[in-house]
Order: sequence, then structure tokens, then C-alpha cells
Amino acid sequence: MTEPIKVMTVFGTRPEAIKLFPLVHTLESDPRFVSRVCVSAQHRDMLDQVLSIAGIEPDHDLDLMTPGQTLDALTARALVDIGAVLDSEKPDWVVVQGDTTTVMAGAIAAYYRKIPVCHVEAGLRSGDIHHPWPEEVNRRVVGTFAALHCAPTQTAADALLSENTDAATVHVTGNTVIDALHWVTKRIEAEPELAAGLSELEERFAGKRIIGMTSHRRENFGEGMRGIAEAVKRIAARDDVAIIFPVHLNPNVREVMNAELAGFDNVALIEPLDYPHFARLLDISYLMLSDSGGVQEEAPALGKPVLVMRETTERPEGIEAGTARLVGTDPNTIVIEVTRLLDDEDAYRAMARAHNPFGDGASAQRIADLLAS
Ligand code: UD1
Ligand code: UDP
Repeated sequence: MTEPIKVMTVFGTRPEAIKLFPLVHTLESDPRFVSRVCVSAQHRDMLDQVLSIAGIEPDHDLDLMTPGQTLDALTARALVDIGAVLDSEKPDWVVVQGDTTTVMAGAIAAYYRKIPVCHVEAGLRSGDIHHPWPEEVNRRVVGTFAALHCAPTQTAADALLSENTDAATVHVTGNTVIDALHWVTKRIEAEPELAAGLSELEERFAGKRIIGMTSHRRENFGEGMRGIAEAVKRIAARDDVAIIFPVHLNPNVREVMNAELAGFDNVALIEPLDYPHFARLLDISYLMLSDSGGVQEEAPALGKPVLVMRETTERPEGIEAGTARLVGTDPNTIVIEVTRLLDDEDAYRAMARAHNPFGDGASAQRIADLLAS
């Protein structure tokens, strides 16, 4: 019998954890693999929320997060500490997902040890190194040396091929976020109490249309965040809507949003939601207002219009499918687009159709099969 393949999955933030838990579950239950998990804990609470619901106990927890961490300090610590874990575990593969600092540092640490890297959600490109920042460059760095590129869509695969990536290493697998969404939906169906924590807000806002909101992009800090807050204030002047906004723990987000938006009756600034509760928020929302990457993928799958508060996106598929629209951070544009969706039924109906450009929920299995082959 051949030796099982030792796979070290490395992640550090909420979205990486959400998009990698389906793969970790798959690897753990497949005798072809020995699965090891290393978390940088670039995020702490928001990572632990996902580990807890997914039932994952990391083999290595580097506990790197510090309040208000800088990109360079975090990168340096992650590179050194992930490197030490790779020296002790000597995996056959390192798996990383997406575009965060942990992803770039984890991949480079593997490269320095000549361990092949599998990049999940490979090939996303906005074409602008400052939007999203620094994620666009993180992704490109990993894309230059990954041994296996798991592109979520054909568009992403084409982007890699246009950069002369070896075609034999590029595979369209779909995005594991859809696996995660299916998993959590089934969990909630079986145990509704997992997502029952929003019921008080649901009662308070009964009869109003809910706008679900998230915001955290570094390139929006400062002026962009203030523009977003101004738009929310104007939207909140309507009495037929309510905004539920789980505020990201980054102090650059919280300070602005708490200062600008506290005290509005129909704006609920709440703590980050765990994944079942966020899925519930998606479900009860009339539309989403977000600068998040993951939400741009989940909303189309659920047929929820999403107005994307960014100048560009590396996820054009949601826009092509008609469920997502770029609105930037200018308050006038955001208010015009939200108002259109609230007041023009045809415009709303045109966006509120379920599409699955990002996958079919079987991505983790495809990735596992690629690792085995
Ligand atoms: C990071 C990623 C970004 C990703 C986002 C997902 C980088 C450079 N940024 O951005 O690509 O889209 O995560 O959410 O990799 N904090 C807490 N508790 C937490 C998490 C964060 O207090 O659980 C606070 C800390 O003060 C921390 C700060 O937020 O220093 C920033 O965290 P960091 O991971 O550096 O950046 P994000 O803005 O979260
Ligand atoms: N999410 C969550 N709770 C929240 C907000 C978001 O579980 O309060 C989930 C969301 O469903 C998506 C992911 O977190 O899967 C997106 O993470 P984030 O916006 O932090 O990062 P990005 O996707 O922009 O990198």
C-alpha cells in the first residue's frame, strides 16, 4: 500500500476558514491523505467562530493576531512561524486559499522548502494592484509558483493561462464557498437554533425590508469608509428599510462606523456573525451592500442582489450573471443604486435571480482528487 499523502492546510482569516473547512473535512475523511491544519490566527475571534462551527481543531495555532497589526509585521511573523511548522511537519503539499497575508506568507514558506503549493481560488485578477489592496498582489505572487492552481471559474483559469502558467497545473474546480454554503444550509435545516440569534432584530424590523451589510476593505479606509457611512445615513432616512450591519473587528472600520452610525433606529450595528447567522442574514435580506469578496460569491448563489462598494472586482462573474453591481464608495451613487432596487420592481427582479457561476458545491472533492493524482 502506498503511503498516504500528507497535506498541510494553512489559513488565518475568516474567509479562508470558511472556504477551506469543506476541503479539510474532505481530506480528514479520505484515507488517501493525512490531514494537518495550521492556523496563523491572523484573525482571532472571527477565525475561531468558523473553527467552532466547522468542528476543526488545528494541529498548529500560531496565534499571530495583534490589535491594529501592520502588513509588514504580520507578514514577517507569519513567514517565520509557518516556516517552522513546515520544518517540523514536512508535508507533501501545502494548501492555501485566496489572497490574504497568511496565504502569501504560507505559500512563500513552502516555496522556500520546495514543498509544492496548491492554491485554492487561484486566478482571480482585478488588473489593478491597488484594488483590492494588498490582495491583488498576494494572489499574483502565489500564482507565480503554485504547483496546482484550483481556479473557481473558467475566467480565472483563463487569467492564469494568459500569464503563461503551465496549463497542466491549472484546473477549474469551482469555488469551495459554495460547498461551505450548502454545508451550513443543511446544518441550519437540521438545527434551526444554530441561526436563531437574529430573531429579536427580525421582530424589531418586521415589515421593513432588510439591507444586509458588510464593509472592511483596506483600500476603503478613510474617505471610502466615510462615503459608505454617509450613504447608510441617507438610506436610513427611509422608514421602510432597516440595515443590519455586522461590523468587522478591524479598528479602522469600527471607529468610523460606530462614530457615524450609532443612534439610528433602523441601523443595527452588531458584532460579527458566525457563519450560520450570516447565512440567515443573507436569507432575510432584500439586498446586500458589501465590499466583501465572499459575499459577492454567496449572494448570486442565493439570488440576492449585491451592490459592491468597490471600484473594481476580481469576481466579474457575479456582475455578468446580473446579480452584482459595482457602486464604488461615493455616497450619491450608493444611494441612487439602493433606491433603484427598493423602488423599481423590474430592476430588482432583474437582479434577484439565483445563479451559480462560482460552483456546484463539489469543489472540495475535486481539489482532493487533484491532490491525490
Ligand atoms: C484581512 C485580509 C483581507 C481579508 C479580510 C477578511 C490581509 C492583508 N487582509 O483583512 O484580505 O479580506 O481579512 O476579513 O491579509 N481583528 C480583531 N479580531 C479578529 C480579526 C481582526 O480584533 O478576529 C482586528 C485586529 O485589530 C487586527 C485588525 O482587525 O489587527 C486587522 O486584521 P487583518 O487580518 O490584518 O486585516 P483585515 O482588515 O481583517
Ligand atoms: N461572514 C460571516 N459573518 C459576518 C460577515 C461575513 O460569517 O459577520 C462571512 C461571509 O458569509 C463570507 C465571508 O465571511 O463567507 C466573507 O468574509 P470577509 O468579508 O471578512 O472577507 P472577504 O471575503 O472580503 O475576503
